[in-house]
Amino acid sequence: MIPGITILAIESSCDDTSAAVISDGYVLSNLIASQDIHKAYGGVVPELASRAHQANIIPVVDQALAKAGKKINEINAVAFTLGPGLLGSLLVGTSFAKGFALVNNIPLIGVNHLQAHVMAHFALEKGKEGHIPAFPFLCLLVSGGHTQLIVMNDHLSMEIIGNTIDDAAGEAFDKCAKVMGLPYPGGPIIDRLASDGNPHAFHFAKPRIKGLNFSFSGLKTSFLYFLRDRFREDENFIEGNLNDLAASLQRTIIEILIGKLVRASKETGITEIGIAGGVSANTGLRRAVEKEAAKRRWNLFLPELRYTTDNAAMIGVTAYYKYLRSEFTDHSVIPQARIE
Ligand code: KG4
Ligand code: ZN
Repeated sequence: MIPGITILAIESSCDDTSAAVISDGYVLSNLIASQDIHKAYGGVVPELASRAHQANIIPVVDQALAKAGKKINEINAVAFTLGPGLLGSLLVGTSFAKGFALVNNIPLIGVNHLQAHVMAHFALEKGKEGHIPAFPFLCLLVSGGHTQLIVMNDHLSMEIIGNTIDDAAGEAFDKCAKVMGLPYPGGPIIDRLASDGNPHAFHFAKPRIKGLNFSFSGLKTSFLYFLRDRFREDENFIEGNLNDLAASLQRTIIEILIGKLVRASKETGITEIGIAGGVSANTGLRRAVEKEAAKRRWNLFLPELRYTTDNAAMIGVTAYYKYLRSEFTDHSVIPQARIE
């Protein structure tokens, strides 16, 4: 290990502006400015997100440096999210990072957001060093934009062995929540409502997708039609059954996810298993994976809640391993909304 590598990391792919300071893989600070403005619109408005990133980025970086107790001249490299994400949002972080690298004459490191979600499992914290996955590591990445099964053979090699063919799991939570009149983002609200509901009260059609791929658009449609039919008989159906609806929907999404994760583990023979991304904060999913892990003797890694949603610590940890291999990014780079 090269001692004393300190990295300032920026994450601005969607609606959270985050900055973190990582030293030798240890997280010294990880600050997130969330953008409440989107709540009023029932989803993220890209134009508003870019503007909010522009307003937030300097204060968030200042706070991240202060909390880490680091001065600008102690930073050895600056990392940023290259994509995937909203282009206008990515441009704010990319431009900031380029400027910071140029002024301070330090390397620039662009990071894939999806790889970073998985790499959150390798974030070190003083006193918590023991629980880090071994390779090969199989991770279910479930967020608002992605649902993937990823095999990591080392810190920087990522193979996608399963993917959604339409909506992401987080999108299914958010869109079904919207249908029930709940605010954005609906995932955490459904999680809370589900804790007081009967997960077997209602049954929704599950997709039959071959192999390790996922599909969630059919579930969304089946949920919508189910509510429409019940609404015809009872105008207060949603209000009167909110907890049971949330619990049943959540159970269905979890069953789809767990089914494919178990299959992926069987097919690859990998038993170092993790979950990552915003939906990995879901209480029901965490419980279900734990149950499966006990049954199948998996060595399970559940991310700490602060590393489930978008954060710059995961960008910084990934960048640390890139720094060790001198994988730096040229200043001509442009962010990418999509990375396959
Ligand atoms: O990883 P993330 O912060 O952003 C993306 O890269 O997409 O994930 C956001 C997604 C949203 O769809 C949100 O509803 C979902 O994660 N989410 C949850 C929970 N917390 C966040 N879904 C279900 N249960 C939760 N507790
Ligand atoms: Zn994300």
